[in-house]
Amino acid sequence: SDPVSFYGPHQAGVTTPAQDRLHFVAFDVITKNKADLVELLQEWTAAAARMTQGKDAGTFGAVGGAPEAPPDDTGEALGLPASGLTLTVGFGPSLFDERFGLGDRRPPALADLPAFPGEDLQPEISGGDICVQACAHDPQVAVHAIRNLARIGFGKVSVRYSQLGFGRTSSTSRAQATPRNLMGFKDGTNNLKLEDTAMLRDHLWAAPGDGPAWMDGGTYLVTRKIRMHIETWDRAPLAEQEAIFGRDKGKGAPLTGHGEFDAPDFAKKGPDGTPVIAGNAHVRLAHPDAHGGARLLRRGYNFVDGSDGLGRLDAGLFFMAYQRDPRKQFVPIQRMLSQKDALNEYIKHVSSGLFACPPGVTDGGDYWGRTLF
Ligand code: HEM
Repeated sequence: SDPVSFYGPHQAGVTTPAQDRLHFVAFDVITKNKADLVELLQEWTAAAARMTQGKDAGTFGAVGGAPEAPPDDTGEALGLPASGLTLTVGFGPSLFDERFGLGDRRPPALADLPAFPGEDLQPEISGGDICVQACAHDPQVAVHAIRNLARIGFGKVSVRYSQLGFGRTSSTSRAQATPRNLMGFKDGTNNLKLEDTAMLRDHLWAAPGDGPAWMDGGTYLVTRKIRMHIETWDRAPLAEQEAIFGRDKGKGAPLTGHGEFDAPDFAKKGPDGTPVIAGNAHVRLAHPDAHGGARLLRRGYNFVDGSDGLGRLDAGLFFMAYQRDPRKQFVPIQRMLSQKDALNEYIKHVSSGLFACPPGVTDGGDYWGRTLF
């Protein structure tokens, strides 16, 4: 497949048809010097522009530099194509603390997420000053990109946590077949998609007047690492599994319909007078009808981080959702899910991240975050 264009009004990696693999990283900025930080963002942008086109991170490359110097590329992607690589940057709330004098530029939409019932967030895998989402069809390419950004950032940033994901759990284009999450269900059926131009304008991209002008054309990312109790899930009867989502497991059709993309009929009652799609079904509670039309662009990945030492796989969904304003989208949806979702018996949120993803890099003279600094 052709490389994904790095330049444009919006960052790539949001509406780009979701690639198969993820390497997500959150950095803490350790330099106290704002000029150093800006210089790093400029170096990162140049490297990102190159790597997304299938080139080495630096101009000499893995093997083209002076023998007495460390190479400006680590080499493990030599000979591999761009593999659809996108690199998407975001700035967390903590970047706007007193260190860099950016407090008055913090967007109101980047308000700290409230606590939600049932979550068990681990601080060491939550938050972060800067995130980079690397998505590609080849995991080696995604890992290479993050590794080189970390290498370039040595002494200025440190890796706070990173997350590998295999298997996208969302479609972000109507041209893509809907993949499945680790519960075996099609995930991403009723997602915001690249073809939904008017809805992307209304629900995805920050617009002039929304907040500080530096975010115009940007978007907000919420990440949640959601552990699944898959061993318990695997002992739940099929009918219960389907009732929990409100969709059938084979085709992904709503329990009130036949085809995957049939609209769910939330008013429909069964012979016993109870709703066919239960009151606590995930799709009923997450549906735009329950939230004044609010939607998300979900772009999550399956993960298995080995096992937990207690005979269980450490598996789940690394949920990522892009939106125009988390206060009006993720927060009310998650508040309702956390209180009522039948799925809660089988999942636990263990990490959380919130990031302001600035608009796209326009050309070779531009850099990640220029509008902010
Ligand atoms: C829909 C799975 C967590 C928001 C769905 C669907 C599945 C699913 C199978 C139906 C197919 C589709 O339309 O994509 C899961 C799993 C989760 C999870 C396994 C946790 C492990 C979340 C969270 C949110 C969310 C945390 C947001 C706070 C949505 C939305 C829809 C949806 C907005 C579309 C509902 C509609 O319009 O019909 N999810 N989900 N999900 N989910 Fe989740």
